[in-house]
Amino acid sequence: MSELNNIALKILSSGKGILAADESTGTMTKRLESVNIPSTSENRLLFRETLFSSKNMKNCIGGVILYDETIKQTSSSKKTIPELISASGAVPGIKVDTGAKKLALSNNETITEGLDGLREKLKEYYDLGARFTKWRGVFKISTKNNLPSTESIKANAHALGRYSALVQEANMVPIVEPEVLMDGDHNIKTCYQVTKMILEETFYQLSNSNVKLDGIILKPNMVLNGVDSGVKNETKQVAEMTLSCLKENVPKDVPGIAFLSGGQTEFEATKNLNEINTINDSEFIITYSYGRALQKAALEFWSKNIENTKGTQDVFNHRANMCTLAAQGKWSAELEAK
Ligand code: 13P
Repeated sequence: MSELNNIALKILSSGKGILAADESTGTMTKRLESVNIPSTSENRLLFRETLFSSKNMKNCIGGVILYDETIKQTSSSKKTIPELISASGAVPGIKVDTGAKKLALSNNETITEGLDGLREKLKEYYDLGARFTKWRGVFKISTKNNLPSTESIKANAHALGRYSALVQEANMVPIVEPEVLMDGDHNIKTCYQVTKMILEETFYQLSNSNVKLDGIILKPNMVLNGVDSGVKNETKQVAEMTLSCLKENVPKDVPGIAFLSGGQTEFEATKNLNEINTINDSEFIITYSYGRALQKAALEFWSKNIENTKGTQDVFNHRANMCTLAAQGKWSAELEAK
């Protein structure tokens, strides 16, 4: 087994998942301001440190994706943030893209940037303790405008290939995240077709870049109806279509798949993951790499009870526990209510 494969398995095994706490300062500011908390560097650290010191970090969380600001911060216990995460048994990771910018001459599509100088940045992050990384390519569906365009698919998949090669060269595991957004009025079949096209092109580009597939983690979207379609997602259909899309388009060497939540509610993201694992007859480990679906309730509680560390941690512990049960197909609505 390769060293990178070992890291990927350590992050994903035994129902563990990933806490995506890598919101850029801009995104974190929106999240904090939505609950009336000023977005200072101290507040960003305080909330994140509260989560990273929770009891269920040890039981549920195999990896934490950090943002540049956080990986360089020191916790109140004087440990660096990567040390605090490692002490719980989880692996520290880092977002390395610099965001999705407008793709020139496109119909408002985006290209994710961050390749320039990445080799040097990776060395710095490795020295700070990171052992895995994340890069998110973003694809928007518009049936009216025939999006995503071939140009956006090729450009973003190519960037994912180049990024992954640089990360493996630096002895870290790349999370490969091609996200098809939920926005739009498309139906679930269109989401399936677009997700399939994007996975095909992504793995074609990873192979062209000589990326070793047993040393990556795929972070895809679930296959869903567009949020403006007016159609309610049926758990069984979401699970069946998502699993078949992955089985048909993800090479078998990939050790694990960790979904993004992408704006689904915490309940939906958990229920759908549970159903996928209930019917999972593939070799893939299938788990979560949730941002909002792990943090939303804890953030809301914390914003009203900023002194109450234990209460905030209880909310996070419950969410992490529900997601870890779902990653093993052992979740139920009754457990959710307890
Ligand atoms: P969400 O689960 O909130 O979609 O965030 C996951 C993530 O890391 C997006 O890049």
